[in-house]
Amino acid sequence: MQNNKPSFGNSRREFVKTTGLISGGVIAAPLLSQANFHSGADDTIKVALIGCGGRGTGAAVQALRSKQKVKLVAMADAFRDRLDASYKSITGDLSEAGVSGDLTKMVDVPEERKFTGFDGYQKAIALADVVILATPPGFRPIHFEEAVKQGKHIFMEKPVATDPEGVKKVLVAAEEAKQKKLNVVVGLQRHYQTSYRELFKRKDLIGDITSAQAWWNNDGVWVRPRKEGQTEMEYQMRNWYYFNWLCGDHITEQHIHNIDVINWFKGSYPVKAQGFGGREVRKGKDHGEIFDHHFVEFHYADGSILNSQCRHIPKTSAKVDELLIGTKGKIYCGAANIRDHKGNVLYQFDKKTENEPYQNEHVELFAAIAKGEYKFADAENGAKSTMTSILGRMATYSGQVVEWDKALNCGLNLQPTAYTWDTLPKSLPDANGNYKIAIPGVTKYY
Ligand SMILES: NC(=O)c1ccc[n+]([C@@H]2O[C@H](COP(=O)([O-])OP(=O)(O)OC[C@H]3O[C@@H](n4cnc5c(N)ncnc54)[C@H](O)[C@@H]3O)[C@@H](O)[C@H]2O)c1
Repeated sequence: MQNNKPSFGNSRREFVKTTGLISGGVIAAPLLSQANFHSGADDTIKVALIGCGGRGTGAAVQALRSKQKVKLVAMADAFRDRLDASYKSITGDLSEAGVSGDLTKMVDVPEERKFTGFDGYQKAIALADVVILATPPGFRPIHFEEAVKQGKHIFMEKPVATDPEGVKKVLVAAEEAKQKKLNVVVGLQRHYQTSYRELFKRKDLIGDITSAQAWWNNDGVWVRPRKEGQTEMEYQMRNWYYFNWLCGDHITEQHIHNIDVINWFKGSYPVKAQGFGGREVRKGKDHGEIFDHHFVEFHYADGSILNSQCRHIPKTSAKVDELLIGTKGKIYCGAANIRDHKGNVLYQFDKKTENEPYQNEHVELFAAIAKGEYKFADAENGAKSTMTSILGRMATYSGQVVEWDKALNCGLNLQPTAYTWDTLPKSLPDANGNYKIAIPGVTKYY
């Protein structure tokens, strides 16, 4: 996600490692889904990309490289310049991005199948068998709901919402996707990464998990400063990282990866959270309303605790990792090993055999679709891990102990009343151009 230039690399934030696994597990059910990818004699799987930024562009290429008969047939983005840059990247010289072979033959997106604005997604979805949803996460609930309504298979990026009402929408649509047997993969790619899968298989070596730690500490990400002539809506959409209705704050947008690993290994979700956070260095006008650090204690029903920290502060120590501590030992996810409490190695994953999880998400998804199998139902876990990260944000913003059930059902909906360029988002700058920042002890979590 480098300023407006689509990149295929996954390393921008996963600088320590890239990683993945099957949220909610692989469903071993066969049966052809309702999505009609075998229309007539042509068995090409048609793909639409919604959200043509860095990740969407990368995911589209990974879909084309999934080794199945795939064609990109439609693209939608709020902005024409983003769509054009993505199209150029996909069809242009891909060598820079390490992509070999000629993918251009697999791209058939004429002008009439390029859609812009807020409602382009509906038209692009209608043309495809599989949709890639990679806009900022604030739009994910309505895009996912529409894709499920239209009976399509789905790859959607994490997080899948930015507020509890969005999470609830995704949970409802996730159920409908299951009924319709639509494959849904969520871009929590550690579920699709070999080392994580091997560690997960052996998690009983550490006995009962009593606590865990998760980190996403690094310098932070891009800023897209306000430009002359932009409406407030366009400005926030371009500089989306810094607005909660679009991004959810970095605890949701990035740290979800690490929190999700702990939920996955625990096999459950926290019942409450409390923590603290604030803004030490993120004080500019283009830094919107998000914090630059959060520290949260997530409590699970069995009494175990996840201590989670995420920090976006330049020149501080960097770490993106997870650690699980059990009655008999520890799982070190980054080092990909399991040790007993004396430090003896009980299992070491051979890192030379690591896969490329971003690519593997698409290899597995498209293989299932090509075979007419129903294998992936990641949306429910995606929604619940998203909710976990939102719970953490509510705890750090309010400084209160926040309970899962109350948070999920509190009615918080950060979305604007309408999606048009002239609509005013709910969070607006004051006369000096500054946005309202949460104050623990004052801010209500809902
Ligand atoms: N799994 C991972 O490791 C990983 C890595 C990077 C990004 N992501 C996720 O991918 C998503 C996109 O991130 P990115 O880095 O590509 O951001 P980006 O800003 O590069 O791209 C987002 C694109 O969506 C477009 N867009 C915004 N609103 C839209 C709408 N309503 N309809 C259509 N298009 C719209 C934007 O114009 C932009 O082109 C985020 O959810 C992010 O968290 C995941």
